[in-house]
Amino acid sequence: MLEKIKNAAAYIQSEISIQPEIGIILGTGLGGLVKEINIKHTIPYEQIPNFPVSTVEGHSGKLIFGELGGKNVVAMQGRFHFYEGYDMQQVTFPVRVMKFLGIQKLFVSNASGGVNPDFEIGDLMIINDHINLFPSNPLIGKNISELGPRFPDMSDAYNKDLIVKAKAVAAANNIKVQEGIYAGLTGPTFETPAEYKYVFSVGADAVGMSTVPEVIVARHMGIPCFAMSIITDLGVPGKIVQVTHEEVQHVAAQAEKKMTLIMKELIKII
Ligand code: HPA
Repeated sequence: MLEKIKNAAAYIQSEISIQPEIGIILGTGLGGLVKEINIKHTIPYEQIPNFPVSTVEGHSGKLIFGELGGKNVVAMQGRFHFYEGYDMQQVTFPVRVMKFLGIQKLFVSNASGGVNPDFEIGDLMIINDHINLFPSNPLIGKNISELGPRFPDMSDAYNKDLIVKAKAVAAANNIKVQEGIYAGLTGPTFETPAEYKYVFSVGADAVGMSTVPEVIVARHMGIPCFAMSIITDLGVPGKIVQVTHEEVQHVAAQAEKKMTLIMKELIKII
């Protein structure tokens, strides 16, 4: 795997003239951040050696290089989900490559279902911890010691300093933010009422289908992570209604401005 990562990074380096210090996974709710990036280079995933190949849609996304808030960034427009049929190594491969491009921090966004009864639809939640409910872990298999340790610490999965700074940015801009624990599971089904109850009972505040694998791999390599979620629906007894992908996208689009602002301002001050 190491050779594959190095080859992908070497190809990208031959195409770009900047050295990114921040990696961003533009999940649900951060699509608009692209407009804020002063773009220098764009590389479609298809062109990058060893990058996962899109199975369903015609194109799987691209890496965007540019300047945001005075920093050089690399942003993934389009991420790979476990439910699409990629294995955990494929889902997390781009994070490995971004490390070899030099990123020192990783920013991630997603949409999730809120199971904390204090949450409302449209809330933003700063993720301060996670519970891996995927049936696997991207680090299973032979450990590559050049990448990180066999048994990585996860006590600081979501960087506390970045959380403090993000909360300050939110407060300064009058944006309400929740903070809580994200449970990651496979999907693609949304949860049954019993599953939402289960997720809450094990200690989560929200549940979604991404982020956990990427953060595990980033922490394996020692990269500090910051992640935010848009609560697009509620898995709270008495408030459970049908969830559709369209509704998730609709709510996320409405919260997008707030999330974009926090990410951009946070990147500026770190
Ligand atoms: N469950 C899982 N993933 C999600 C949800 C949910 O309720 N909402 C948005 N992504």
